[in-house]
Amino acid sequence: QTIQWDMQAAQKGGYRHFMLKEIFEQPRVISDGLTGRMNDDKSMVRLAELDDLPVPKRLHIVACGTSYHSGLWGRLLLEHWARVPVQVEIASEFRYRDTLLLDKDDMVLVISQSGETADTLAALRIAKQNGVTVLGLCNVVGSSIAREASAVLYTQAGPEISVASTKAMCSQMLMLTLMALYWGTRKGCLSVEESRNNLQILENLPALLDGSLPAMHERAKEISRKYAQVNNFFYLGRGHCYPLALEGALKLKELSYIHAEGYAAGEMKHGPIALIDPSFPTFALALDDALLPKVKSNMVEVQARQGQVIALTNKGVELDAEDRWDIPALPGPLSAFLALPALQLFSYETADYLGKDVDQPRNLAKSVTVE
Ligand code: G6P
Repeated sequence: QTIQWDMQAAQKGGYRHFMLKEIFEQPRVISDGLTGRMNDDKSMVRLAELDDLPVPKRLHIVACGTSYHSGLWGRLLLEHWARVPVQVEIASEFRYRDTLLLDKDDMVLVISQSGETADTLAALRIAKQNGVTVLGLCNVVGSSIAREASAVLYTQAGPEISVASTKAMCSQMLMLTLMALYWGTRKGCLSVEESRNNLQILENLPALLDGSLPAMHERAKEISRKYAQVNNFFYLGRGHCYPLALEGALKLKELSYIHAEGYAAGEMKHGPIALIDPSFPTFALALDDALLPKVKSNMVEVQARQGQVIALTNKGVELDAEDRWDIPALPGPLSAFLALPALQLFSYETADYLGKDVDQPRNLAKSVTVE
């Protein structure tokens, strides 16, 4: 017992929990993920694994849990930069639907940290039976999905011990970004200049994130103490912040057992707003992007019902919130790489403050290998 404890303490590298260690590993995950992925003048992405595959006419992304949220986020980049139409599906739904939509020029992308999730593996097999190319995006080398896929991209995030996924999502988002840039320039719908600019942002990201994490952690502590006793939470976002809202809510519920719902901010008025009262706070993703004015008006609607708002935003943004949380800004969807750790830290701090078992939440498994 003592030996095991010492081993665990050593593996946690001075952090209280694996989850916290893994959150703080994200700058390294990004720099590792970029290693060897750019051409010499750093203007274009290298993804040798995809060189022999045609650019898909349509892409079906299939995954579960946090990996599904990565897929929802990646869709926006793949559609915007590579002009590839993308569908994102939950694996347990995909596997029981008619496969009418699968065409032989389509590609299925299965995303799985473990590479062993039963529903995702079943989806892969169905796609293959339909003669469709299946690309795997996995973390665990040699896993079932990695072995059975037609081609595999590895996220190289390193072992993820905490049941709640953190750095794996960051690594999946990075690979999806690289895929979008790669297919975009290959098809010629994304200029080399644009590709270079985005790669430059990615290259600077590890240092920016590394420098931002300590302050983010402090702010997460402060805000989580204030809200830890509530029973319900909304997470609202639009555009690329919508998948982040889903992920923020998932992290909060799985770690702290506080009921949390992630919603597309524009859908609030179609029902959920009925739930808002002073005891039901909202975590708004109000980053400085094109949809910010819309998110701000959704926040006003919440406040008009006496709902309290935490706003994750950027310096210089004018808004009214009970608790404002500024993080550094990046252009467009890449700002998600800074928003994600803030959401993770907020859930981590809430759960830890409430005395929950952060690394091993009740009823959950790291890898769901049964249906
Ligand atoms: C479980 C884990 C989640 C994970 C999901 C999908 O529910 O607790 O953290 O996102 O499985 O796992 P995968 O390994 O397929 O990404």
